[in-house]
Amino acid sequence: MWVEKYRPQNLDDLVDQTIAVDRLRPFTKSPASMPHLLFAGPPGTGKTTAALALARSILGEAWKNYLLNLNASDERGINTVRQRVKTFARYSDESVGIPFRIIILDEADEMTQDAQTALRRIMEETSRITRFILIGNYSSKIIDPIQSRCAIFHFSRLEKPDVVKHLEGICGKEKITCTRDALEKIYEVSRGDLRHALNLLQSSATLGEIDVENVEKAAGISGRARVGEIIQFALKANFKKAHENLILLTSVYGMSERDFLKYANEEIIRSSVKNLGTISEILAKYDYRLVVGSNPEIQLSAMLAELGTVGAK
Ligand SMILES: Nc1ncnc2c1ncn2[C@@H]1O[C@H](COP(=O)(O)OP(=O)(O)OP(=O)(O)O)[C@@H](O)[C@H]1O
Ligand SMILES: [Mg+2]
Repeated sequence: MWVEKYRPQNLDDLVDQTIAVDRLRPFTKSPASMPHLLFAGPPGTGKTTAALALARSILGEAWKNYLLNLNASDERGINTVRQRVKTFARYSDESVGIPFRIIILDEADEMTQDAQTALRRIMEETSRITRFILIGNYSSKIIDPIQSRCAIFHFSRLEKPDVVKHLEGICGKEKITCTRDALEKIYEVSRGDLRHALNLLQSSATLGEIDVENVEKAAGISGRARVGEIIQFALKANFKKAHENLILLTSVYGMSERDFLKYANEEIIRSSVKNLGTISEILAKYDYRLVVGSNPEIQLSAMLAELGTVGAK
């Protein structure tokens, strides 16, 4: 996927966000001065990318060993977060030259007030040897006592000329032709969300060269409609087609597996399929398996196959 392939590794390679990057850079030189951080801003603007790049430059080569990357809304409740943080933050690593361990907590603004209060306590208990980087779309949804413990960084939507230039560079590297109008169209649709822009660029590229027509085509086929199509293929026991489209949707279009299930659920209710009860049970079963951490691709493939056996009845 291009969003991953072209995710900048260094702070200085981020598109825009110069205000945030200029304030973050000093922490890479003198990590001791780094407080907990809170990154807020719209989707696809580089928050996770900046957090990873910062962690990498502070922690050095073995950065992965000293970084815990949790998704606050995926983890089952604050107790899991507490458990994982506690296990992770048990050791000080000063002797190996690591100033502190870093915990990135994505979608922190989705946590309930109670969970945030508990989080605040965890931050205090472990602050000697850890720094948190909390990430969310809205800093206002983070409780005041946490906000006041963090340095807050606002990430803004990316500017048109910079996005167009970035996309142009990628087309060059991928050796595909594109027109400037098409890239501007991509910006109009994605409005400063670079993840969205890259996904749209990649799905347009599957249709041929990147011109306005292909961009419009790729943008017009909404994710939700694609899920509907996949479920219909599965119910008709056309596993191959269903599976192919699933992979395209999750890997190229970037839809998360849980979102896929959510839309699938809406689709079966909307299209009033036969055996609704059985089918709902199936969706619920796989939803649970994803939550407990089974391999999403294998699980969803199995689900499509199972839908085929029910739909055919
Ligand atoms: N400022 C940026 N510079 C370069 N690439 C970017 C930037 N912002 C986003 N991207 C691209 O988009 C992808 C997603 O970005 P990222 O994960 O950092 O977004 P985010 O701000 O964390 O969004 P979300 O709120 O949805 O988690 C990256 O892998 C990268 O390819
Ligand atoms: Mg993110």
